[in-house]
Amino acid sequence: MLKKMVTKDLVVGMYVADVGRAWFNHPWKKKSRLLTDQAEIQELLDYGIDEVYVDTEKSKVKSGPKKPFVPIAGTRAADGALRTPPKSPVPKAPEVVSELEIELPKAAKAYTKALDTSKAIIAACYMNKRIEMNEVQENVEELVESVTRNQDALTALIKLRHFDDYTYTHCLNVSVLSISAGKALGLSQDDLKILGMGTMFHDLGKTRIPSYILNKPGKLTDEEFVIMKNHAALSQTIIEEQKLDVDEQVIQVARFHHERLDGSGYPDHLKGEEIPKLATICGLSDVYDALTSDRVYHKGKLPHDALKFIYSLRGTHFEPYWVDRFVQSVGIYPPGSIVELNSGHVAVVIEVDHSALLTPLIKIVADPQGQISSRPKLINLRLEAEKTGLSIQKVIPPSEAGFDPAYYFNLKDIQGERR
Ligand SMILES: [Fe+2]
Ligand SMILES: [Fe+2]
Repeated sequence: MLKKMVTKDLVVGMYVADVGRAWFNHPWKKKSRLLTDQAEIQELLDYGIDEVYVDTEKSKVKSGPKKPFVPIAGTRAADGALRTPPKSPVPKAPEVVSELEIELPKAAKAYTKALDTSKAIIAACYMNKRIEMNEVQENVEELVESVTRNQDALTALIKLRHFDDYTYTHCLNVSVLSISAGKALGLSQDDLKILGMGTMFHDLGKTRIPSYILNKPGKLTDEEFVIMKNHAALSQTIIEEQKLDVDEQVIQVARFHHERLDGSGYPDHLKGEEIPKLATICGLSDVYDALTSDRVYHKGKLPHDALKFIYSLRGTHFEPYWVDRFVQSVGIYPPGSIVELNSGHVAVVIEVDHSALLTPLIKIVADPQGQISSRPKLINLRLEAEKTGLSIQKVIPPSEAGFDPAYYFNLKDIQGERR
């Protein structure tokens, strides 16, 4: 018979039938086990598992202890690793947290609010209603503040969230990526706010493009592409029709975000330095977000593949200087990337080292045999590489990893809404 029990009341000899967590979310190889060592109970507590299911028939003892469970200092787990007891209360998150992880909850709050605003902006355009500028201004300021505190928390969030509709997330994601890149480029706070606002509005014109063109899964015909290309100028039209009180550069970002260095862009075929700097940053973020986003009809590229593609446009579509700065800002392996190391270990990228893109801050989550670590270790790969030659060997697509990297950021509550 299965009996739900508080983990603290477990004793050696009980048979745990189910730890009540997904495979990647508990410390054992299997969900069930006959407890033979008190350290195994400690492992569950260290993982924040407060309740389990016990099979009373398979158990060799019948009831729990009279006294509450007291962790033993420095016990050894079944795998031989030394376990140090947690301080009270039992920590649910890994003990060592990065600066990015500290900012994440605040970033998530700002992002969720801004996503609602992004939806409201698009709805207002479709219904010919007024865009609430106060809200947009407030949200953009909060995004800029978050990026100022930590450049990568918001961009990490974009990667870790799932299930939101591209129509709503795209403008916001382009805004976040642009503010982050703008920050890395040393833009002033005022310019960052202008950039944030312009990028939020950059595709407003798409609300006036027929949906059969906008959502066409295949390649557009020449005629359809001509209509599609109108969206950039239409974004300007909407801002002007709404008589929005915005800086001139906000309009430039909206109108010129598809202009390209060699004049091959639209709508005005601007070249080189004729293209405003903020519109170029928006253009780079726009391409990156479009390439990496999952759409109904295709799977998004991995970040490093998208950056490789953007790099191929260096000198033709985009000024090399801006491409280099953009790549440096996003990082070859952005936070949330799942990577395999040359040692065979699997790790999740936690923070980008912007001065050493190939060696980010990582958490080792599994050993070469695929055994998930109960205490993912935070490692500065740059320092480790110097000492041991440890390096990233390849990127593992999330669909093949079998676990959600968000878990390692303690981000379970902000996964986005399933459509
Ligand atoms: Fe666009
Ligand atoms: Fe766009």
